[in-house]
Amino acid sequence: MSAGELLDTEDSIKIHDQEAAAYDRQVKEYEWHGHDVIFGMCHEYMQAGDRLLDLGIGTGLASLPFAGVGVEIYGIDGSAEMLKICRTKNMAKELRQFDLRNTPFPYTDHLFDHIICCGVLHFFGELKPIFAETARIIKPGGLFTYIIVSPVEGDEDYSSRMVGGGIVFMHKREYIAKLLRDCRFEKLKELTMMSKTGAADVPELRYGVYVTRRCSE
Ligand SMILES: C[S@@+](CC[C@H](N)C(=O)[O-])C[C@H]1O[C@@H](n2cnc3c(N)ncnc32)[C@H](O)[C@@H]1O
Repeated sequence: MSAGELLDTEDSIKIHDQEAAAYDRQVKEYEWHGHDVIFGMCHEYMQAGDRLLDLGIGTGLASLPFAGVGVEIYGIDGSAEMLKICRTKNMAKELRQFDLRNTPFPYTDHLFDHIICCGVLHFFGELKPIFAETARIIKPGGLFTYIIVSPVEGDEDYSSRMVGGGIVFMHKREYIAKLLRDCRFEKLKELTMMSKTGAADVPELRYGVYVTRRCSE
């Protein structure tokens, strides 16, 4: 990863620190429903009491519906301000501030029944360390469900774009498929959806939603 990419990823924490207070209101205004999509696509595999880690939990929007059906929520995020708002919702068993560019993640092997990651992975130029750490800390048979920006036709020429002042990496499906294979996740469901971004320069983006399962050792 180049120094430029590292700097940009650092900015994605700063940007969220600055936007934290307005975040929940803004996503409602521009009609982002990624968190509902994640819950709708994977709750059938989960039970009350399961331990779920939300990577880049932010203010907790993606975890909230799981907490509502008795799933135990653990959250990790680089932004102290996003976590502050998440804490007021009083639904997580544990919240940690941690920059996900660093490895290892601060959890023991096979700790979580499931891991979700909603709208976060496209802030990273290199995803292999995140997928490898996710594979380490999830239980065999556990679900890893995530939403990531997916390039549309015409995007072939770039690997990243500026969106609303922040960088978004356009990871190709083939790259994601290889990561899943290398880290021993099998795909259960995949959905492509368009959604508004709230940014004037790029008003809409395409997203891929993946429900995957960690293969047994
Ligand atoms: C678009 S928000 C999504 C928040 C939440 N998952 C949701 O569904 O509403 C992206 C989140 O990723 C976090 N993030 C971005 N880069 C990060 C990094 N390097 N380490 C940890 N968290 C990061 C931001 O702080 C922010 O909370």
